[in-house]
Amino acid sequence: MLDLDPLLFGEIDPPQRLLMGPGPVNAHPRVLRAMSADLLGQFDPEMTGYMNQVMALYRPIFGTQNQWTMLIDGTARAGIEAALVSMVAPGETVLVVNFGRFGLLLTEILSRIGAKIETVDAPWGEVVPLEAIAEAIHRVQPHHVSTIHGDTSTTMAQPLDGVGALVHAAGALLYVDVTATISGMEIAADRWGADVVTGGLQKCLGGPSGSAPITISDRAAEHIARRRHVEQGIRRADIADGQGPRIGSNYFDLAMIMDYWSDKRLNHHTEATSMLYAARECARVALAEGLEARFARHASAGRAMTAGLRAMGLTVFGDDRYRMTNVTGVYIPDGINGEAVRLAMREQFEIEIGTAFGPLQGTIWRLGAMGYNAMKHKVLLTLAALEACLKREGYAVPLGEAVPAAIAAWHA
Ligand SMILES: Cc1ncc(COP(=O)(O)O)c(C=O)c1O
Repeated sequence: MLDLDPLLFGEIDPPQRLLMGPGPVNAHPRVLRAMSADLLGQFDPEMTGYMNQVMALYRPIFGTQNQWTMLIDGTARAGIEAALVSMVAPGETVLVVNFGRFGLLLTEILSRIGAKIETVDAPWGEVVPLEAIAEAIHRVQPHHVSTIHGDTSTTMAQPLDGVGALVHAAGALLYVDVTATISGMEIAADRWGADVVTGGLQKCLGGPSGSAPITISDRAAEHIARRRHVEQGIRRADIADGQGPRIGSNYFDLAMIMDYWSDKRLNHHTEATSMLYAARECARVALAEGLEARFARHASAGRAMTAGLRAMGLTVFGDDRYRMTNVTGVYIPDGINGEAVRLAMREQFEIEIGTAFGPLQGTIWRLGAMGYNAMKHKVLLTLAALEACLKREGYAVPLGEAVPAAIAAWHA
């Protein structure tokens, strides 16, 4: 048996990194403080009161009146999986509006569910036109349509106004993942006509990963309730099973999770108390700032980052019209070792910037400014550090241009 000295690894004392990649980002100190509050039993009236507060706090953040607005315990992917496994039954047809790595993640999860998957695609760096979505819905006649709002892999934000109307006219349900944009760009679940929308804390909400806010329309809740099969040990006479096919996951069974978050308080998992405190504080911070002001702050940060990168002579990735405000992709200049620059950023300046996935790996870096990090000085520090690291790697960077350009763009 391994005989470990309990002091061997020391207390957790991470370096003071500034996380300026595509997320996670540094959490707001208020969120970290909330997480250290004392624990409660899951049916303590204080705890269930906090759960109800979370439901109220996330409605405006999702742009919805939906009663079913709550948290899934787990990272953003847990929210996606809970939504899809509870909405989509094996054999049903799902149209995925796909324009990057996270659209492909939807197809991956759906294939495990046993769905019949069709896609309507855009090349990475572009979005899918509304007409193409309409044409695909007409052709495929799906039971469900699923998509991403901001796909961090490509830094593009898919316009969603009008999509819900097309989906509903075809008798289908719409799922949207807003992990990368929630509280940084407008989320309009009701106006979009989205039936289920899920997010995560670790980007524009300025929290740690590990809790996935979700909102569910009444229409989707009824659809999911038709698949309700309460587990044997907690059955109650007043909660009837539905006639539809049983949801293929216990942990991510939204019918049971809604029963847990409802006044019935039917036991399911043990709510992750510290993560609920975090999610609650993220929402309080966001709403106290004001959502419009918060979107404007992220837009300023995105404009400043883009202007600073261009002032260094770099080429920004993707279609300017559909750029996410909180993450910017930029081409690694020819002849420059992208990983050497990222290493220098971290070692010399304690700043993390992001690499990329799939076809963009080794081609672009992704720089984020979101949540607690969407601040002018943090964008300027990142740009100044990148300038120094690029010079060190031998790139002919025009010195001293990026920061003034970024300051001007922040205030534009
Ligand atoms: C758009 C999008 N969806 C989903 C995820 C997955 O989130 P998590 O890693 O918290 O499961 C991410 C993470 O970067 C993301 O950017």
